[in-house]
Order: sequence, then structure tokens, then C-alpha cells
Amino acid sequence: MVRAIILAGCYLLALATSGFCLSYGHEPIGIESRSIGAIYQAALKEKGTLKISWGGDEKSNGAGIIAAFTKRFPDVKFNLTVDLSKYHDSRADRTFVTSNGEDDGADVIVLQTVHDFPRWKEANRLLPYKVATWNDIQSPFKDEDGAFTGCFIGEFGVIFFNDNKAPNDTVPTSYQSFLNPEWRNRLALTYPNDDDAILYLFTLIVKRHGWTFIDSLVSQNVTWLRGTGTPSELIAKPQNELAVSFAASPTDAAVVSSKLPTEDHYVTWPQTGAIFASTKMPETAKLFMSYVMSDEWQAVAFPGSVYATRKQFDTNGVLNQTLTNPLGFVTFMQDRANVERWRFQFETTLGTPQGVSPLLDNIV
Ligand SMILES: *[C@@H]1O[C@H](CO)[C@@H](O)[C@H](O)[C@H]1NC(C)=O
Ligand SMILES: *[C@@H]1O[C@H](CO)[C@@H](O)[C@H](O)[C@H]1NC(C)=O
Ligand SMILES: *[C@@H]1O[C@H](CO)[C@@H](O)[C@H](O)[C@H]1NC(C)=O
Ligand SMILES: *[C@@H]1O[C@H](CO)[C@@H](O)[C@H](O)[C@H]1NC(C)=O
Repeated sequence: MVRAIILAGCYLLALATSGFCLSYGHEPIGIESRSIGAIYQAALKEKGTLKISWGGDEKSNGAGIIAAFTKRFPDVKFNLTVDLSKYHDSRADRTFVTSNGEDDGADVIVLQTVHDFPRWKEANRLLPYKVATWNDIQSPFKDEDGAFTGCFIGEFGVIFFNDNKAPNDTVPTSYQSFLNPEWRNRLALTYPNDDDAILYLFTLIVKRHGWTFIDSLVSQNVTWLRGTGTPSELIAKPQNELAVSFAASPTDAAVVSSKLPTEDHYVTWPQTGAIFASTKMPETAKLFMSYVMSDEWQAVAFPGSVYATRKQFDTNGVLNQTLTNPLGFVTFMQDRANVERWRFQFETTLGTPQGVSPLLDNIV
């Protein structure tokens, strides 16, 4: 019903502006002008629990935002669930089908699977919203109609090492050097065929070093793992040989340090968020998006990070780098047939990802 009204309004507008709405069934929206306190007051008038699907592969990936949002807005009820983006999007799509388009299973969704957002926008499943900090978000990371917003920059390809097992001065900054004999049995890497951003990293490696690199890497007796958090956690432990990874996310363990590759291309991408149009709690959903994009959260959420979707926090300029292109992953993800071909190239060599779901393991 709501959708029909929007489309009708759009149709009238379309008549007046020669086809504006052909591509998108929403009227243009302005940038949020209310203070976050005023949005909070509006949110408090809504009943229910805000459902947030938060892409990640360790429960701890949601801990920071849950704690901060709870502290800042104690009277808002919300349920933030961490799961792999590829499962959150599948669940949203299935709920949409089984509810006959009444429900997407979440009010807000923040994911790595960037290809979903243009598709959902096209299907009129997203509620356009431009947070107050809209003009500070770099254009390539946001939808011009406000349907989705790049919230922060994710990064893979950083080299992590355990200072005790492999001191900084012994750890190379080129992936090729990890094929040397001293790294045998000591590499922990995430399966490229379990996470599309890790897959993209391995496609960059193959383009640069060829398939012989992968064959040599496999003969190094790599420990392949599910979950991008798992390699760093294992490296942090004193009782095994695993010392380095270049396909993992960071850990809080003080013993694990990191450095960027100096010759190889690494992966960055905008972790992207949107509000589903089916939400019954639009003000609370807007409050959540506003908070994620606020100075307050952006300043503390990723200590040490030099990249951000917001100009103000993008210290090193993620769009200006020679060794990473945050839009490369966005382009890669749009062509699913190509993604699948690459995935099965790696699966042919490595087999299917083995091990329990990283969300269930007890390594942490
Ligand atoms: C939060 O949402 C998840 C996923 O929908 C559900 O499994 C869980 O029971 C919910 N938790 C609470 C406390 O409602
Ligand atoms: C392969 O590496 C693992 C992890 O370091 C080690 O436990 C195992 O003994 C190694 N296997 C061989 C055959 O060297
Ligand atoms: C590793 O050593 C290099 C060169 O001395 C230095 O610039 C860098 O800060 C060190 N990194 C870590 C994590 O200690
Ligand atoms: C990135 O490059 C643009 C265009 O040259 C420039 O305006 C901007 O200041 C640079 N950003 C950083 C953080 O260096």
C-alpha cells in the first residue's frame, strides 16, 4: 500500500519532470536536518525492536557498535545480529519472498556484499535516507538517491604477524616472499572460496603472480581457515607454529602486529548500509544509520584506521592509493558469473572450506 502511494506520487512527478522516476520509484529526498537528539525523540515514539543485520564473521564484530549504541540511546530496543553477509542477504531475500514482500527480515542491513544494494534499490526495497553528514561522505561510496550508504572501509591483504614468533624485521612485505622455505608450516590464511573479499584478494594475486604462485603457496603447507578472524587468532597463540597471515582481519591480541604490503595490491571496500522500505520503525532505523555515520562513532569505531568513507576520517585517502582501489571490489561483485568462476578455480585446488562456522567456534 505504502509502495503504491509512493509510486503514484512518483508518477505525477515523472510527468512533470520528463521521466525522472523511470529508474527509481522515490521522490528526491533532502539531507537529514534534525539533530541526533531530535531523531532519538522521534524513535522513542515507535514501538518494537529494531532488527539490524550486521555482516561479519565473528560475534565480536558487532560488540563495539552494540555497546556504543546501547550506551548512547539506552531507551531504544534493538537486536543486532552478526552473520556472514552472504547469509544475511540470502535471509533477507527469502523473508521477502515468504512474506509476499511485506518483510525483509531486518530494518537495517550493513554488509560486505555490495552488489545487493543496487538490486534492492531497483526493486524498490530500500528506504532512501541521507544522514546529516551526507556531504562529507565521498561520492563513490554513496547512492545519489540515498538508497544506500558506505559506512566504513574494510581491508584485506594486510600482513599480520606474531612479534614473538616472527619479529618485524624478518617478515616480508611482498606476498611472493612467503613462498620462501622459512615460511613453510607458518602461514594461516582464510579460504578464498568462503569470503568474496578474500577471493578478490586472491584474484589480484593470481593476476600479478600467476597460478604458479598458488601452487607454490599450497606446497607451503598453509593452514586454510574459515572466518577472516580465525588466522589472526591462531597466530596469536604461543603453542603452534603459525606466525603470519596476509589474508585475515585484525585481532585485539597485543602480540599480533601488522603492516601493509609494499608492492602487492590489497583489497579495500565500502561496507555498505541501508534501511529496508518494509521497516515499521523508520525513525529508529534512521537513528541507527545517523549514529553509524556520526562524528561521534566514526571517530572511535576504528582506532588506527587510516581509511574511511567519510572525508573527515579518511586520513590517508583510500581513493588516492596506488596499491588499493576500493571500487575494484564493487565492480568485481557486480559480475556474479565471474565471481563464481574464480571461486571454483580456487575450490578446484583447495577443496570446499573445512571447519565449523567461525560464528560458532570457540577460538576467541
Ligand atoms: C535477535 O535476532 C535473531 C535473528 O533474527 C534471533 O535469532 C534472536 O532470537 C533475536 N534475539 C532476541 C533477544 O530477540
Ligand atoms: C603443516 O603445518 C601445520 C601447522 O603449522 C603443522 O601442524 C603440521 O605438522 C604441518 N604438516 C606437515 C606435514 O609438515
Ligand atoms: C616494522 O619495521 C619497519 C621498518 O623498521 C617500521 O617502519 C614499522 O613501523 C615496523 N612495524 C611494526 C608493526 O613494528
Ligand atoms: C585525495 O586526492 C584528492 C584529489 O586529488 C584530494 O583532493 C584529496 O585531498 C586527497 N585526499 C587525501 C587524504 O590525501
